[in-house]
Amino acid sequence: MCGIVGFTGRREASPVLLEGLRRLEYRGYDSAGLITGTGNELHLRKKAGRLAELTKAVAAHPAPGCYGISHTRWATHGGATDRNAHPHLDGTNTIAVVHNGVIENFAPLKHQLRSAGVQFRSDTDTEVLAHLIGHYYVGDLVAAVRQALTLVKGTYGIAVMSRAEPGLIVGARLGSPLVLGVGDGGTFLASDANALAGYADKVVYLSDRQLCVLNGDDWELRAQDLSPVTASVHDIAHFLADGDAEKGEFPHFMLKEIYEQPETLANAMRGRLDDADSTAHFGGLNLSPQQLRQIDRVILTACGTSYHAGLVGEYLFEELARMPVEVEYASEFRYRNPPMDRGTVVLAVTQSGETADTLAALRESKRMGHTTLAICNTVGSTIAREADGGVYLHAGPEIGVASTKAFTSQVAVMTMLAVYFGRTRHLSSIQGQRIIEELRALPDVVRRTLGCHDHVKRVAAKYADARNVLYLGRQYLYPAALEGALKLKEISYIHAEGYPAAEMKHGPIALVDESTPSVFLVPRGNVFDKVMSNMQEIKARGGPVIAIASEGDAEVAAVADDVIPIPDVPEYLQPIVVAIPLQLLAYEIALLCGCDVDKPRNLAKSVTVE
Ligand code: AGP
Ligand code: GLU
Repeated sequence: MCGIVGFTGRREASPVLLEGLRRLEYRGYDSAGLITGTGNELHLRKKAGRLAELTKAVAAHPAPGCYGISHTRWATHGGATDRNAHPHLDGTNTIAVVHNGVIENFAPLKHQLRSAGVQFRSDTDTEVLAHLIGHYYVGDLVAAVRQALTLVKGTYGIAVMSRAEPGLIVGARLGSPLVLGVGDGGTFLASDANALAGYADKVVYLSDRQLCVLNGDDWELRAQDLSPVTASVHDIAHFLADGDAEKGEFPHFMLKEIYEQPETLANAMRGRLDDADSTAHFGGLNLSPQQLRQIDRVILTACGTSYHAGLVGEYLFEELARMPVEVEYASEFRYRNPPMDRGTVVLAVTQSGETADTLAALRESKRMGHTTLAICNTVGSTIAREADGGVYLHAGPEIGVASTKAFTSQVAVMTMLAVYFGRTRHLSSIQGQRIIEELRALPDVVRRTLGCHDHVKRVAAKYADARNVLYLGRQYLYPAALEGALKLKEISYIHAEGYPAAEMKHGPIALVDESTPSVFLVPRGNVFDKVMSNMQEIKARGGPVIAIASEGDAEVAAVADDVIPIPDVPEYLQPIVVAIPLQLLAYEIALLCGCDVDKPRNLAKSVTVE
């Protein structure tokens, strides 16, 4: 579920493959490999660990040839070892396969293949594909891939080549993204268009159960039964802005992305705030005012950080639009059978637009006849294409595995959506106008909030040794507490829990001692006094308190051990503003712990397996 890059054309393939993989590194992986071809010889190099290991191996033993496929692996079956790294070969070393996804029925297939005398060289599920394709191969790779895929259950994006058909690469997808690129000097295949920037001018996104055939400058798209398909060709410049995928002056993508938030929030709102009608509007929702009125319930579905943004959305929709909302983990929702009325819309929230569970939840909802919408960052992603309508974040590529700018933009878009829905219902034009003005001021407020970075550094230095941290907030700041805890866990590997501040006394307070700090989200608002009491409860048990509080709040300063000041904003905007110190805190602590902030262990940027 990490990366695939393939190239066939009139130049050496291995530099193109290595550079493509480098651009996909941010997605997280544990091993990398490539294979190229010359004449009827294949050149396989693969290594567990960082791409630098593979690059070294290729420098020591070059892989010549003008066609090849490559892979970064995020292990699902079998440890992260050289042996298990992709590409995998069939028994005669004729067919090479790289694969993103999971072959769910690999066990019976492996059993059958073993009974037929096949010897396996890895513990991966992928290797069965190589042997199956090899089994059907009689000189026609396209036909063999097609036949093998009819036996396979699960998800895949694959690239396949054969030493007996030099120059030819076959790609196919079901559930894992794959994009074909057409450029100067040849054709490309990748799991993410980011890998192709600067190489290809045109891209074609494969849909599920499609297959593509590349050979030098020639390419074609087919259905899996090999019937021809008309491809829609997109201009790659439309998707990728120059410099978006570079760190610039920042040491890490995560820090760059944290600092981009004034800009990304402005981009999320650009052209969408409507003073004349005191509302927000969106180009791509594809809902008439009549359809909009008929919506009486919203189900928000997502994973991880996007799920936390959805939880903020629940408070927003309830307060601003007075609509019933439920938020569901996509991984749970896809297998549940909740009663849903005709007026229910399902709104998927996703940065990547490729998360397998979120995609499955969306498809299941569509199948049941519900209107599906998506809030998504990645233009052209599967969820963006399959939802009935949606709103893009326009936050630019998010490279750091830990989501930062996508979270705040998701919340900003949900705020605008709640205003939009609210204005067709109870929200008055005066209220609508007030919110629009507050939203418009938000990028500047966030810019000011970034000024807390020095405070955050001092706090991080004091608490970087903690092994457990509690994050506590109420109402709008409860999901923000969950997100703060997730950020710390993901990149510093310190155990952290987010809780509604008052719930803490029903159990987690047992964890509190002088070595367990609590991060309190306590800016001024309706529940300020209540949260202050919860803070006293922690102090009474000897727990250190870090408070994220309104600038100049003496009452908080008198109780908390450390205070990180933030500007005052209305409560519904507080999740966005507190996200800044929470992200910076996780970042600074992770640095002090010596962690690889942009590529935390075990994680992948987009989780295209179940
Ligand atoms: C965020 O920091 C995570 N790495 C992860 O939880 C992520 O939010 C989740 O996998 C959902 O991804 P998506 O937004 O691309 O669907
Ligand atoms: N399931 C395959 C493996 O474990 C592919 C993993 C991936 O998507 O990188 O090798």
